[in-house]
Amino acid sequence: MTALSDVSFRLLPGTMTALVGPSGCGKSTLLNLLGCLDLPTAGEVEIAGVVTQHLADDALTALRRDQVGSIFQAFHLISGLTLAENVAIPLQLARVARPRVAEFVQAALARVGILELADVLPSQASGGQQQRAAIARAIVRPPAVLLADEPTGSLDSHNGALVMDVLRKLADDGQTILLATHSAEAAAVCDRTLSLRDGCLIT
Ligand SMILES: Nc1ncnc2c1ncn2[C@@H]1O[C@H](COP(=O)(O)OP(=O)(O)OP(=O)(O)O)[C@@H](O)[C@H]1O
Ligand SMILES: [Mg+2]
Repeated sequence: MTALSDVSFRLLPGTMTALVGPSGCGKSTLLNLLGCLDLPTAGEVEIAGVVTQHLADDALTALRRDQVGSIFQAFHLISGLTLAENVAIPLQLARVARPRVAEFVQAALARVGILELADVLPSQASGGQQQRAAIARAIVRPPAVLLADEPTGSLDSHNGALVMDVLRKLADDGQTILLATHSAEAAAVCDRTLSLRDGCLIT
């Protein structure tokens, strides 16, 4: 079965694009292609000027690590680490020097509005706070694109709006964002909407 076909679009730098459509239409599949978790059987994905198809596994891993940030419906924070320690992970993987790690972590937590929660565990934070920590982790090394798969899907409307405020501010500051969502409120905050149906783009 073909999950996606005839899907062609460019994300403009510094814009936030909503990806909408019914369950099973291919939103997560498309995000996984852009996140280099999957390769297309036909067609091309280009990220930051690099076409993913013919890259070896290690080059794909590096592209994903260096150019793509991802957040998900379920936050995926590491439960035994504080929010600051979670945010530090990408910096440690990139072997950033320790004093700079602290500085970058603080800046990222401040950007998402949870600097005061640096030392709490995920279980001590609300869902909205955990999602904002996940955003901080995704942008602590600024990615070419931030991919968000249903980022407000497990939040109440108040926390969902807080998370969308954060994403909107990041886009206004130049972060390119692609956001798959079932929420009309979340799509309304975006600059542009792409509609998928049965694996095809309809707008
Ligand atoms: N690698 C793959 N190859 C072929 N088909 C796939 C692949 N991955 C998922 N699918 C199928 O593609 C379709 C799209 O699934 P996908 O999870 O992308 O939808 P979705 O829009 O994210 O749905 P939801 O809104 O429920 O999250 C489904 O029918 C799924 O079973
Ligand atoms: Mg999905």
